[in-house]
Amino acid sequence: MLEEGISKVLITEKEIEKIVHRLGAEITEYYKDKEADLLVVGLLKGSFVFMADLIRQIKLPLQVDFMTVSSYGSGTESSGEVRIDKDLRGPVEGKNVLMVEDIIDTGRTLNRVLELIESRNPQSLLTCTFVDKPSRRIEEVEIAFSGQQIPDEYVCGYGLDFDQRYRNLPYIGVLDPSKG
Ligand code: IMP
Ligand code: MG
Repeated sequence: MLEEGISKVLITEKEIEKIVHRLGAEITEYYKDKEADLLVVGLLKGSFVFMADLIRQIKLPLQVDFMTVSSYGSGTESSGEVRIDKDLRGPVEGKNVLMVEDIIDTGRTLNRVLELIESRNPQSLLTCTFVDKPSRRIEEVEIAFSGQQIPDEYVCGYGLDFDQRYRNLPYIGVLDPSKG
């Protein structure tokens, strides 16, 4: 049974598990011989479900931090002006920072955040996203670890919301266009 307002399932719970498992293995392999501390940074709120699953598939010592940003925008598109609502708890200088996003759409939000973090002199700075909508890209973004590319549809679940709802769905579903 589908949740009301969701027209179809795009990524099932089983598929999510596989994707996260693969990403965890890729990330573990990449950082396993790096000396600096690994700091995994989740962008709230969307990434919190993915973060919880992902960090348990990274088989290395790591630290976790979160940041909340809001991008002003009209409707469902971000403007590229990003406000920091909650900054990181600690410094990133000298650390290997891995930014974790739920979805990369236009690329604007992430690019502004990356510029800010970069200015604080991390040892390295890479990005992991659960889903990627490349057809909507306005600014180029480098994604080191990508879960799955999806078509240009508004998706919800697994942390992603529409109007703060649907974050608790265990799958990624497409929002019924009549709702969006
Ligand atoms: P960007 O700056 O356009 O890349 O926007 C990225 C942010 O917009 C993400 O972190 C999401 O919070 C939100 N977003 C973009 N597309 C979707 C979607 O299909 N469903 C839910 N949120 C989305
Ligand atoms: Mg969001």
